Amino acid sequence: MAEEALGDLLAFLGRRAEWLSGALARAPPPPARERKVRELWRYCWYVLLSNRCIVDHPVLRKPFTMPSKYVFRHQWLWDSAFHAIVLSTYDVELAKEELLNLFHAQKPDGRIPHEIFLSKAMCRAFWSVDDYSPWTTQPPVLAVAVERILEKRFDEKFAKLAYESLAKYDRWFSERRDADRDGLAAYIDYLESGWDDSVRWDNARDRLELDPGKYRAAYPEARMAPVEAVDLNSLLYLQRLILSKLATRLGRGEESEEWRRFAEATAVKVRELMWDERSGFYYDVYEEDHSKVMVKTPAAFLTMFAGIAEQDQAERLVEHLYSDFWTTFPLPTVSRDDPKYNPRGYWRGRSWVNLIWFTYWGLVRYGFNSEARELAARVVELMAEGPTCSENYDSSTGEPIGVPDYSWSTLIIDIVADAARKYWV
Ligand code: GLC
Repeated sequence: MAEEALGDLLAFLGRRAEWLSGALARAPPPPARERKVRELWRYCWYVLLSNRCIVDHPVLRKPFTMPSKYVFRHQWLWDSAFHAIVLSTYDVELAKEELLNLFHAQKPDGRIPHEIFLSKAMCRAFWSVDDYSPWTTQPPVLAVAVERILEKRFDEKFAKLAYESLAKYDRWFSERRDADRDGLAAYIDYLESGWDDSVRWDNARDRLELDPGKYRAAYPEARMAPVEAVDLNSLLYLQRLILSKLATRLGRGEESEEWRRFAEATAVKVRELMWDERSGFYYDVYEEDHSKVMVKTPAAFLTMFAGIAEQDQAERLVEHLYSDFWTTFPLPTVSRDDPKYNPRGYWRGRSWVNLIWFTYWGLVRYGFNSEARELAARVVELMAEGPTCSENYDSSTGEPIGVPDYSWSTLIIDIVADAARKYWV
């Protein structure tokens, strides 16, 4: 009996290995000569391609990539944007396909949901919502993924679909997440931020608990005092800029001009309200009074990723990179001098590869080439030990923690591709 089952299993494993080696053979060749880096590269492609799945589902109609086939078995919004960015270097059609369920799941009011559960029962259990998706969104990285895809190969049909959808999505932020109408949107739920348990939200959660009525008048579903987050608004700035470029490309000149002006106004507000000259850092602000949430996190580096920071501000941010965030595995989710820093805490000090990716491209954008090279080399060295592609890493030891084979950690592929070309030759 056991032998029979094992026989089937071995045949299955054989077929799987065959499929995977076929898929891997089509992956771009590793750009580096070093054996360990080549192994990491192949391992990451294995993770991303084998986490892709097809399900029979009314919303998940197209194949998509699970963040992890062991634990996170739904489609998530910002995860899929990261997956598409990496997939676009493999097969641009696959990258587009990764985003189609997200456009399809868009709600009539314009919101693109946070996650699409495999079953309504799961969604009810987690969120008490009778749908496949809760009432939240997630960090708007989608436009960045769309831009990457269209840069590889322009496709008018896809561009139109993305433009319509992102324009509606952006208006949803203005209507539903910007009660003070200052052009800066707020997170009203810690899970919406993607940074679930972050120290950034501790006081905001306490504020809501003390006086829920105060916040629920504008946001009935709020689970924390609304926070105009620096990463959220950096991404919205980019989304508005990308919408402007798309509108031009699609021959909608007037709309393009409107989006460009809106993007610029967003950047001005971020600089005006979120920069603290004394400490030389960007912070989140409370929507109610624009006072700063004085918690230093790598979310500030998204102002460099987006191109919002002034050059001298970027220089000061880079000083913080080394003083506050240069741990064994760099970029702990909160500064290591924060009393709440915990190198293994979930979003409270562990390191995540998506934040490394934003910061890497931010450094490149501002010409901090040796810093970008150093960041890439340090992270690649640690991930290549194994190799591992884990959900996150203990920032003080570099030990892989969280779930194994986590899809967005394959963003290291995008970093290696760039770093190898520029710095490792
Ligand atoms: C965790 C992360 C969240 C991510 C999700 C799926 O909940 O905190 O940001 O989207 O996992 O990977």
